[in-house]
Amino acid sequence: MASEADFGLIGLGTMGAMLALNIADNGFRVAVHNRTTARIGEFLEEAGDLAHRLTPCPSLADLVAALKPPRNIILMVPAGQAVDDQIAALRPLLEADDLIIDAGNANFHDSARRAVEARKAGFPFLGIGVSGGAEGARFGPSIMGGGPRPAWDRVAPMLSAIAAKYEGQPCATWMGEGGAGHFVKTVHNGIEYADMQLIAESFGIMRDGLHMRPAAVADVFDRWNGGLLQSYLIEISGKVAEATDPETGQPMLDIIQDSAGQKGTGRWTAIEAQMLGAPVSVIEAAVAARNLSSNPALRRAGEALFRRENAESTPISLGENTLRDALIAGKILCYAQGFDLLVKAAREHGWDLPMPAIAQVWRAGCIIRSAMLDNMATALATAPDNLIFTPYFADLIAGKLPALRQVVGAAVGAALPVPAMAAALTYFDTLTQARGTANMIQGQRDFFGAHGFARTDRAGTGYHGPWLNQHLSE
Ligand code: 6PG
Repeated sequence: MASEADFGLIGLGTMGAMLALNIADNGFRVAVHNRTTARIGEFLEEAGDLAHRLTPCPSLADLVAALKPPRNIILMVPAGQAVDDQIAALRPLLEADDLIIDAGNANFHDSARRAVEARKAGFPFLGIGVSGGAEGARFGPSIMGGGPRPAWDRVAPMLSAIAAKYEGQPCATWMGEGGAGHFVKTVHNGIEYADMQLIAESFGIMRDGLHMRPAAVADVFDRWNGGLLQSYLIEISGKVAEATDPETGQPMLDIIQDSAGQKGTGRWTAIEAQMLGAPVSVIEAAVAARNLSSNPALRRAGEALFRRENAESTPISLGENTLRDALIAGKILCYAQGFDLLVKAAREHGWDLPMPAIAQVWRAGCIIRSAMLDNMATALATAPDNLIFTPYFADLIAGKLPALRQVVGAAVGAALPVPAMAAALTYFDTLTQARGTANMIQGQRDFFGAHGFARTDRAGTGYHGPWLNQHLSE
């Protein structure tokens, strides 16, 4: 077999197949392999005009033979053990300069470990986060890279070519060593969960508080997509709301079960945030809401037992613009949490995460792409403590916060669950209360464990309350 392919790609599931076509469409030759070999033939047929740039490889040895050295091999296999198995099967066939790129949704700890293992074995390895679903993979995803910089530089021209473009600028950025790329992708997904949950909550208020039918909800989302909320997620929410079930003729939203699935990346964001002491309460609320949604039988029993009498008798009156402004405020606050988590992670893991460039790489191609991310990129360049303290977002949030308070208040009064909106509001209220209530926590800790506290009137720490001797001698 002639060694003329520029890239190898293993794993021809939906995302892998789309990525291979995207790479081929950009003029590169791609050698493709899939564990179930029948799929390779099918894929070549699906490839149509692009098939001449694809080399089918029934075995890994064929794939290696088909590639120009130094080889670049992209893995698009399910995250987890399958990636390790694939690396183990490939390594004996490769030479020292051959590069393996894991482009799946890996846990960043796995990418960090694989990077260390690769370095010890003398091979380069990259872990890259790829966002944008099947359409993004085919026509331009957002790419968050991690691993050795020289390895990134080697494939950057191809990654920039296949990536989404924002005003001509490719959405493909190197985030740092080790697992940095997959960490940024994980936070992207945590924000994705929160953004989706906030939108779902505004849908819930429209459906259950304002008694609007899906078609009317769709119109609202369409209008919102024209303003500050312009984003892929608002756009598709409008499309979901307006769709009709071809089988029953009913609105699709009335037919879909209210149990959300999840593959785990949102949960990983919450776990990592907890490990780093970063407050991401809106993301945590979104993960918890998905968890709760997954037990409809329990919720049915709950509704039957408590009958929601209060809820049904409480009238709710909210204008469309108030709801929109509440969503804008909630969205800004959840992004503020995500960016804060990235800053803390960079410190902990020794990465120099390019904060404005992260917002830039999310401006196109990925699931959370939105108009607001451009403003966020500009704001983050000023290196603030928190996104909402930058002049543009401080003004915006000050203007929109009353709406968030009004919406959360109305929803709570009507027993409509708004966990992400409420978390966003509480985050804001906590962040803007100079004297909070942790003095009581410190008093309690000192009381039962002599943990000591700092005083407001003196420097230093380790002071104790008068209760200590009394309590210990009792
Ligand atoms: C993306 C998405 C994608 C993710 C799906 C499903 O950026 O393209 O984040 O990577 O796998 O959105 O995620 P859940 O199944 O966890 O909702």
